Order: sequence, then structure tokens, then C-alpha cells
Amino acid sequence: MLHGGDYNPDQWHRTPEIWDEDMRLMRLSKCNAMSVGIFSWTTTEPEDGVYDFGWLDTIMDKIADNGAYALLATPSGAKPAWMAQKYPEILRVQSNRVRDLQGARHNHCYTSPVYRRKITEMNARLAERYKNHPALIMWHVSNEYGGECHCPLCQQAFREWLQKRYQNLDDLNEAYWTRFWSHTYTDWTQLESPAPHGENQVHGLTLDWKRFVTDQTIDFFKTEIAPLKEITPDIPTTANLMGTYTGLNYQKFAPHMDVVSWDAYPAWHNPRPTEELATHFSFLHDINRSLKRQPFLLMESAPSVVNWQPINKLKRPGMHKLASLQAVAHGSDSVQYFQWRKSRGCSEQHHGAVVDHVGHENNRVFRDVAEVGAALEKLEPVVGSMPQPEVAIIYDWENRWLLDTICGNRHMNSSRDYEGECLRHYRYFWKNGIPVDIISMDCDFAKYKLLIAPMLYMLRPGVSDRVETFAQNGGTFISGFLTGWSDESGLCILGGFPGGLRKVLGIWAEEIDTLYDDDINHLLMHNGKTYPISTFCELIHCETAKPLATYQSDFYAGRPALTCNDFGKGKAYYIATRTGEDFFDDLYPDIIKDTNIHRNLETKIPKGVTLQRRDDYLFIMNFSEENKTLTLDEHEYTDLLEEKTVKGTLDLGIYDVKVLKKVP
Ligand code: GLA
Ligand code: ZN
Repeated sequence: MLHGGDYNPDQWHRTPEIWDEDMRLMRLSKCNAMSVGIFSWTTTEPEDGVYDFGWLDTIMDKIADNGAYALLATPSGAKPAWMAQKYPEILRVQSNRVRDLQGARHNHCYTSPVYRRKITEMNARLAERYKNHPALIMWHVSNEYGGECHCPLCQQAFREWLQKRYQNLDDLNEAYWTRFWSHTYTDWTQLESPAPHGENQVHGLTLDWKRFVTDQTIDFFKTEIAPLKEITPDIPTTANLMGTYTGLNYQKFAPHMDVVSWDAYPAWHNPRPTEELATHFSFLHDINRSLKRQPFLLMESAPSVVNWQPINKLKRPGMHKLASLQAVAHGSDSVQYFQWRKSRGCSEQHHGAVVDHVGHENNRVFRDVAEVGAALEKLEPVVGSMPQPEVAIIYDWENRWLLDTICGNRHMNSSRDYEGECLRHYRYFWKNGIPVDIISMDCDFAKYKLLIAPMLYMLRPGVSDRVETFAQNGGTFISGFLTGWSDESGLCILGGFPGGLRKVLGIWAEEIDTLYDDDINHLLMHNGKTYPISTFCELIHCETAKPLATYQSDFYAGRPALTCNDFGKGKAYYIATRTGEDFFDDLYPDIIKDTNIHRNLETKIPKGVTLQRRDDYLFIMNFSEENKTLTLDEHEYTDLLEEKTVKGTLDLGIYDVKVLKKVP
């Protein structure tokens, strides 16, 4: 279990005595893994071709002497001023075609041959110098890759990318439907990235630009890791991701790194119920684990507050440990922080850190961190273990891009809320202690019993056939409104929605109505129970499916709102409208029973509590502001954190977390 965080000793180069104090405090807080060098390019290469690794040698040695490890960063997340001055091509150009001045960070051009050469030279030196260093455990490549560059070099690379994808302009024009508003391209040189003052209405172009940005970022990442892989083939690489950040398709990026890591900053104690925010972050942790279907690392989290929310509430007692172990419960083999020590100046001086400006260990945050360090030591056996979900929700990056792009009425423009719709389904499983993978539409469906695909607006080639095979073989498929409307270029599927899924779902979606916030309608189950619905009401026809519920009012009262189609050995449900928690609470129990899906523990779970499992390790977490009790099954368990045996009824305090393992 790694425990530590972003460590910037180079900021304290004038007071290196603080480095020894850092080491003492790391030992005290049981921190064993520090990310070093993330933004230290100017310290390491103060002039073009002049290198100074002395400070880093000292730090690496100190870390090793402390019995700890370094996640050694490549410094490409922020470029030196001298480099920007000498090679202006490395400065990023925004979509309005204005070139950035030097400043801030995450602001380089990822196409620039100069920047690529400079980072390759740097990374080769880092690898060569530290290849046998006992502290080196992982490469932390760059920092939070993101953003896009619209410079002439990137435009040229984009055109080449397009030429490779389409071969000829006719096919590109067809995929982009460019005769609309006379947008036809007659020469490759006319193609440019989308711009606020230029082309931004061609969905195919918008999608391709996003695909290109992802591919070009991956290409840059591959350039960065080439010397690392060559010189240190056994040291794994990671890049820290940012949840459902839409700028890069992480489902395409993740296969290129050895370990997925991500930066999680839940704004605890906001007016939203804690369990809702917890559900969202569980979902995000599950995405990160599902990216490579292997344990991930929590690379950054705030030991106390961040400095960038509108309101930054201190973590209430207990929350630090709970939130840290929540990541572990979903598959993280680390708890890492931003930042180890508060920087004295600049914009992050008031961002939470393990070590505050006071400089000693006698404060609440430090004690909280040390408590997590002690807990992680006890959870060592959990490393490498995995949840074993039988349920998957499709949350697909490209689908999100397209849903965010399409135009229509108000809801089609602003309230599609794809992530929220996935979360509404997910919440049932969170509350009931049922593990879930969050996957792209390209993943293998065969290992799941239940596949949920909310708002699967885009269908890439082959997806419908794979869903059919899944249902044919006994899987249960759940989908709903706004599904199967578009191909991968953003062209509408002809011949009736939901396109290729029409057969397996057994329905045809003829029209979609969108509701004002105060419009009222209900879904009426055949047993007479009603559920409020909102935002979208699709008007569908049953072809081979059977209606299970209808709309209660409006001119479409009586028409199907929920259907089920028997297909092969399986079933396919269609939910034609946006429903709430109450509906899923009643829908899912029968489906779970029918499909014989296992819960993490067969017991009644109190509100606000969730149960997650990694193989033999059961995590019980109370995300409510009340004491709760939970009754275990008939077995005896070891409580790993309290180091005692428990049986029967468990008392859970506010924000309590327990990790149990069955006594054999
Ligand atoms: C990001 C960055 C860090 C730091 C934190 C602050 O995650 O990677 O360098 O700026 O945000 O929360
Ligand atoms: Zn560029």
C-alpha cells in the first residue's frame, strides 16, 4: 500500500535543512511513496542542455534511506521560461487561434518536435541516472495531461490524421454531411480544428478533433515513455487522470500506461447529502479500476481542503480516513495526497497539505494522515485484490462527447446529464452492496450477467451485434431513451431508432418529448404504482417487447414507458423516460433475483452505508451523519483495522469504516 503524495523539495532549495525535517515527518505519518519532480524542469535543466541533478540525487537518497519509494515524475507538466522564449513553437495556441504567453502550466504544444525532443532528452537522462536507484518504484509521467493546442503544427498533424482515417475527401464529406450549409471541403488544406469563430456545427469534425487530441496526447505520452521503457523496462508507468474529464478519452489512453492513477477531490460537507457525493466518487473509482480491470492508484487527494472550490469546507473528523479507504475499497492500492508540504508562495499556498506552514506535526490534519498511514499498513494483504462484478454500466467517452455536442431543444442542449443518468442506475447497486464495473461500449460483455447502457446515443460498429449475442446467451440488457440514434460520425441512424438495438430491445422509438422542470407526468406500473418522471419522454412502440408500464398523462397516456423483450436465453428492458431513485429501487430487486447476481454480503444495509468487496476483504462504510448498526451473516470475521474478531451486529459510528475478512 502506497501512502504519500506530491513532494516539491526543489521549492525549498535555499533551506535544504527542511528536507531532513520532511523525512522525519514522513516517517511519523507513515508515508512511504513520494511523487517527486512533477514541476521541476527549471531546477533540473536551468539552461538549454545544462543539467543539474544534484538536488534530486540527494532527495532520492534520502527517500531510500527513509525506507520509502519515489514515483519519479517526468517534468513535462510545466515548461521552463527559457525554453518558451527560445522555442516559441512550444507555446500552446487556444481554439481562438491566440498563442498563449509563458505562464501557468499544462500549456505546451504536444505536437512540437522541439518539445518532444527536449522531454525525450530529459527523460532519458532521468532513466539513465536513476535506473538502479533503490527508491525508484514507478514513473509518474507528466501531470494531468489535458487541454488542446490549435497551432499550425497541430493543424497539420490533424490533417494528416484525417487523411489516414478517411483516405479521400468524399468519404470525409459524407461522414461530416457537409453539403449542409455548403460546408463541403474541396481540399485537405481547408480542414481546421473547430473554433468559436469558425467551424463548430459539424458534429463529425468535432468528434474527430476530440479523437485526434486523444491520439496526439497518447502519441506524446508514448514519446515520453520511449526512453523510460528502453532504459528501465521493469519500472511501471502511470499518468494521473481526472475522473470523467472530457478532454481526453481515458478509455483509449489507459491501455498505454501500466497502471491507472487518478486525482480525486470530492467536496465533502457541501449541502448535498454526503451519501450522494460518496456514490458519485465510488462511481469514479469504479471507472478507474475498470479502465484496465486492475487495481489503480489514488494519486492525489486533499489531506484537508482544496483551494479551488467556491467554498472549501474542512474535512470533518473521520472523513479523511473514510474517503481514503473508500478509494481502497474500490480497488486503489494507494492513498496519495496533493500536497506533502504547503508551498510558501503562489496559487496553491492555501491548498491543504500534510505539512502546514506551521511546520510541525502537532495538528489535526497531520494526525488524520498518520492515522490513515497506520490503517494502510494493516491493509497490506488487500494489495492486488479485486472486486468481482457481475454487473456493468456502459459509460462511454465518445458517447459522452456526442451527447454534449448534439443540438436540439433545451434539454437536448443543456440537460442531457449522461453521467447523472448512469449514476441514477449506479446508486441502486451502491446502496445494496452490489459491485459494478463501468466500461466502454467496446469492452467484452461476456463476463457480466447484467449490462446497463443508459442513453447509448452513439452505436459504434459491432456494438449492437455484441449486445444481441450477450442477450442471446442469457444476459440481461437494460437501456432507455436516447439510445441508438447515431453512428460514430454523428450521423443519424436511418430506419428507426434505436437502430441496431431495435431487434434485441423489441421496440421502435418514434418521437421524444422534453419536459419543463414543472411539467408533471408519471410512469404507471401495471400493478398500479406510479413514479414521477422528468426531462425526457420517448414515445415508443412495442414490436416484440411487452409493456410493463405506461405513461400516466398527456396525449401519450397509456403508451409504453417501460418494456421487456425476451431474447434468446436473456432479456432486454427499455426505460423510455427519466425516472428517479424510487423507480430503480422497485425495478432492480426482481432483476437481481432473476439474474442471480451476488451481493457483497446478504444483509439489510442501513441508509447511507455501502458495502464494497475486494476478493476476501469486505469494506463497510458509513457515509451518513448518524450512528448505524449492521448485522453480519452467521460467520465470524476479523476486523483488520481494530485487530479483533467480530460476529453478529456491528456498530458503525458517524463516518465509520471497517474492513473485515471471514475467519476460515
Ligand atoms: C491537480 C494537480 C495538482 C494540484 C491539485 C490541486 O490535481 O495535479 O498539481 O494543482 O490539482 O488540487
Ligand atoms: Zn500545437
